[in-house]
Amino acid sequence: MNQEKIIVIDFGGQYNQLVARRVREANVYCEIYSYRTDIEKIKAMNPKGIILTGGPNSCYEEGAPTCSRELFEMGVPVLGLCYGAQLMNHVLGGHVCKAPVREYGKIEVTVDKSSKLFGDVSEKTICWMSHNDYIEKQAPGFRITGYTADCPVAVAECEEKKLYAIQYHPEVLHTQEGSKMLRNFIYEVCGCEGTWKMDTFVENSIKAIREKVGDGKVLCALSGGVDSSVAAVMLAKAVGDQLTCVFVDHGLLRKNEGDEVEEVFGPNGPYNLNFIRVNAQERFYSKLKGVEEPERKRKIIGEEFIRVFEEEAKKIGAVDFLVQGTIYPDVVESGLGGESVVIKSHHNVGGLPDYVDFKEIIEPLRDLFKDEVRKAGLEMGIPEKLVFRQPFPGPGLGIRIIGEVTPEKVQIVQDADYIYREEIAKAGLDRGIGQYFAALTNMRSVGVMGDERTYDYAIALRAVNTIDFMTAEAAEIPWEVLGKVSSRIVNEVKHVNRVLYDCTGKPPATIEFE
Ligand code: XMP
Repeated sequence: MNQEKIIVIDFGGQYNQLVARRVREANVYCEIYSYRTDIEKIKAMNPKGIILTGGPNSCYEEGAPTCSRELFEMGVPVLGLCYGAQLMNHVLGGHVCKAPVREYGKIEVTVDKSSKLFGDVSEKTICWMSHNDYIEKQAPGFRITGYTADCPVAVAECEEKKLYAIQYHPEVLHTQEGSKMLRNFIYEVCGCEGTWKMDTFVENSIKAIREKVGDGKVLCALSGGVDSSVAAVMLAKAVGDQLTCVFVDHGLLRKNEGDEVEEVFGPNGPYNLNFIRVNAQERFYSKLKGVEEPERKRKIIGEEFIRVFEEEAKKIGAVDFLVQGTIYPDVVESGLGGESVVIKSHHNVGGLPDYVDFKEIIEPLRDLFKDEVRKAGLEMGIPEKLVFRQPFPGPGLGIRIIGEVTPEKVQIVQDADYIYREEIAKAGLDRGIGQYFAALTNMRSVGVMGDERTYDYAIALRAVNTIDFMTAEAAEIPWEVLGKVSSRIVNEVKHVNRVLYDCTGKPPATIEFE
């Protein structure tokens, strides 16, 4: 593929993925590589530009991540951000040291509008700073094109060599005109044309997969989630019936979900692939009988999943490729992009099957962020219902039922969850909330229905807003919506006489209710 690309070199900063994302939002393809990547490899990629990210180290300390001088002598434009800016100056002969005043937060930067980076940017502009070190003296040949009250070299450049160093973070939204600055680098400095769009990505990926697979056989485990579905459709488009998808229905999916997956991937769907649905509900229910402890339930479900998948894979026999729906955030970097890659199994409980006979893994989405995966899905015509599915844990409803899992309880939580989701969507809140679902508490209490005393379960409703799923806050759902959901649940779902709303954040709770 000969598409124009920008390379982001990762020095371990927290916004690295954002940098790549902003570049792609500007319609230029972008990949992230570790700072350890060999310079020859970078040259061979023929990038239109290189961006050096931020990072937690001090570039003048021994053992700090670094780069060779050659990187700045290739004639390729380089933009250094924060640590990257300091490193560029350090390597090229400037002086970087601990700043007398540490800058953190939104800071006004005065920029020189004659710089290519700032043509359409306000002279005084709010930027996001986060640094302990600073460039005390810029490298020879550089001129200062931005400063703050405490940072004399907030931006420096050597226009002739197309080298730019920015102390703040244009990639975060707090930098009000950051996207403009990055676009200016991409278009005015690197001279990109901006031809990268999701449709070309999809088209190119399909072509590349077709070439790679040849007439080989491909196996994909479908979970019904967004990532594995999008990966499966891409493969189906590339190699048609050389692809076999195995969908294990463990009986712990949301209401109707199994059938929805079958509608898309099954024999009546639009794709010409081999679809195997394994209805393994009974197997899972019997393994889960009498088990109350959440971790134990997770283990049982994960292991059983793998056993079922392996049995199917054995029937199929040896394949050439196994498809994984790994996406960029799953590529665990230990802070340094792509350094140590962990392969997540499609449903990410329990790991990769041991006995599946395959030669190579295909991960067509490993460079994409979740929202880009969704865009790719829409681009390929996958129904919105599937593309905008919220995150759903591999162990499914098994961990949204407190205590023992039984088929009756699964039905209660499915029905309650269905009503909850329906009302949230009707109220137009569905795309605005990070994750929401119903869980079945193990608590029964006294209620009254008609003239009858009841002794039934309480359903817990959960809804959270979160950016990274590591922390979360309870979402504020309008009272009328909660009232409607609660009255429908107690009226329509048997064995439920109370509905509770979980107001807890994470921490101290988790997002799941298990
Ligand atoms: P917790 O409950 O740990 O959840 O706050 C954080 C996010 O992870 C999802 N989750 C899982 N996803 N397999 C998954 O694919 C799992 O086993 C699993 N457990 C939790 C959860 O839904 C939330 O989005």
